[in-house]
Amino acid sequence: MTEKPKLQAEWEAFAAEWIARCEQQRDEAREGLLDDWMLELVGDVAGLRVIDLGCGEGRFCRMLGARGAEVLGVDLQPAFIDYAEAHKGEREKYLLGDMEELNGVPDDAFDLAVSYISLVDVPDMHAAIGQAARVLKPGGRLFACNLSPMATATRTSNWWLRDDMGRKLHYKLDNYTEEGERTVLFGPQHRLTNYHRMFSTTINAFIDAGLVVKRIHEPTPNAEQLKRRPGIDDLFRVPLFIIYQLQKPA
Ligand SMILES: C[S@@+](CC[C@H](N)C(=O)[O-])C[C@H]1O[C@@H](n2cnc3c(N)ncnc32)[C@H](O)[C@@H]1O
Repeated sequence: MTEKPKLQAEWEAFAAEWIARCEQQRDEAREGLLDDWMLELVGDVAGLRVIDLGCGEGRFCRMLGARGAEVLGVDLQPAFIDYAEAHKGEREKYLLGDMEELNGVPDDAFDLAVSYISLVDVPDMHAAIGQAARVLKPGGRLFACNLSPMATATRTSNWWLRDDMGRKLHYKLDNYTEEGERTVLFGPQHRLTNYHRMFSTTINAFIDAGLVVKRIHEPTPNAEQLKRRPGIDDLFRVPLFIIYQLQKPA
């Protein structure tokens, strides 16, 4: 099986479980922390044209649409686009498509692009970033929230080294310079392919696409977020997520 059909098949097998996780707000990091950071960073989106690259079942598009943005969500997985269409608000549109190509999406069309943990899913990150840059208006902003390269490097789904009592000793970081596929297990049944890239590779891909790196954010929880989701205190020990803030030159 070539790469893209294999990736699509993995997400197809996982789609119903992913949608259930979203509906039941089981994703600690997104629900407890990253949504707050992303919404704060994008700021007032009322009236802005926004594209969400790898939008999944549309959860972040719905949040942006509810805040007044005109949103186009793009995803490769038909089950997610069907779900997003069935639950959409009046300012959302959805497109079944590949964020590495964005076929049919015009140049210079969006004020804001977001990629919410989707760059790690694509084999050709340079193409995806190039497309994001292409469809942004001059001066448009891109916020790419991704798994940190510190978190994706190690070839295991058993990331913490634990003592005999099961207490977390250290997070494993290995194979950092070996870029490429990593297999992530979701329970006993599901496996997804992610792509590890070094920090420099990602930053240079943004620069090569003509984007300006404005800020880099490594989200940690505040007291209120920790109270809601105590499990996210791991983020004080390990940088699991990173948000790249970019701008297309005006
Ligand atoms: C980890 S999920 C994140 C979904 C959503 N952004 C969220 O935060 O809930 C990654 C998403 O990227 C999508 N995806 C993977 N490869 C893609 C591609 N080449 N083009 C568009 N979407 C893709 C998957 O179908 C999946 O919905």
